[in-house]
Amino acid sequence: MRQAGRYLPEYRRIRERTTFLELCKTPELAAEVTVQPVDILGVDAAIVFADILLLLEAMGAELRFEAGDGPRFPAPVRTAADVDRLRRPDVEAALGYVFSTIRAARRSLDGRVPLIGFAGSPWTLAAYLVEGAASTSFPHLLAWSYADPAGLRRLLDRIADATLDYLRGQIDAGAQAIQIFDTWGGLLAARRWDALARPSLERILEGLPAGVPRIVYVRDGSHLLETLGGLPAEVLSIDWRVPLSEARRRTGGRKALQGNLDPCALLGSIAAIRDETARVLSEGAGGPHIVNLGHGILPQTPVENARAFVAFAQGVS
Ligand code: CP3
Repeated sequence: MRQAGRYLPEYRRIRERTTFLELCKTPELAAEVTVQPVDILGVDAAIVFADILLLLEAMGAELRFEAGDGPRFPAPVRTAADVDRLRRPDVEAALGYVFSTIRAARRSLDGRVPLIGFAGSPWTLAAYLVEGAASTSFPHLLAWSYADPAGLRRLLDRIADATLDYLRGQIDAGAQAIQIFDTWGGLLAARRWDALARPSLERILEGLPAGVPRIVYVRDGSHLLETLGGLPAEVLSIDWRVPLSEARRRTGGRKALQGNLDPCALLGSIAAIRDETARVLSEGAGGPHIVNLGHGILPQTPVENARAFVAFAQGVS
């Protein structure tokens, strides 16, 4: 959950010298940033420092990160001809820097904790690519989903093909678990998520080599829990909107759960962080639970608060 990032002075020091995209593409620095939260917070896993949107750049879409502006695709994909122009990348040539980061991070971690690889879900990647920028309502994406669902599904399938190549490359390079981020799946009603977002996601999950745990994160997906319980994945990562006990019941107890501390809780007092973490732990106690935040750590988070969360969770469990 963006455990590397701007809340860490050690990250900001590296970022002063380089842009976000350059940092992602410089394996030696990206590996250093990957390992920072393990050394500084004492977390029990590392996640490779990269971004879900890098795959779309590799498919031929120009990607920009502008300060304070979030990601932008200056030429959004909105027609069948736009979809045709996207290529299935040679992932070794186009994204080999991520694989090099994974190899370097594994060397530096030296078996201390496992390393997680990741990708965006096709639906969430399409959300940024079709809209051209971050949004909260994604009008172009949703208009397309009603006007021409088959055309949009063709885009999702293309993204899924490239994602499978990319994730297999990450696993070959040393990623020991895979997390897929469906940050915008919650925009869809359950019936529409099943029809639009699920098929391409499922194809990725089913295409991964056996033995590598699969984690699926859906933000704002409380209304999707019943259908998520049937996904071919070992772990469901959920945000903070429903208690883990309810998530466990509504997913039929079929999945390990990950989450679900509200990232804003880390902005409060240490006593409040302990209370909230204790509540999350007790609500998750009905089955396997990976303690985590329900979404990315906020840049304003005091490092000592993040450390208190990790230490308290480890002490209790
Ligand atoms: O978790 C980690 O430490 C690994 C690295 C990681 C990043 N992004 C680095 C990053 C991971 C796992 C992601 C996933 C990601 N990227 C998601 C899915 C998870 C989620 O947050 O919902 C999404 C939607 C993106 C796309 C993205 N990248 C956005 C919308 C933004 C801008 C938002 C912001 O906070 O500025 C980014 C930028 C980004 N990706 C940063 C980091 C550390 C901040 C960039 C900086 O240093 O300026």
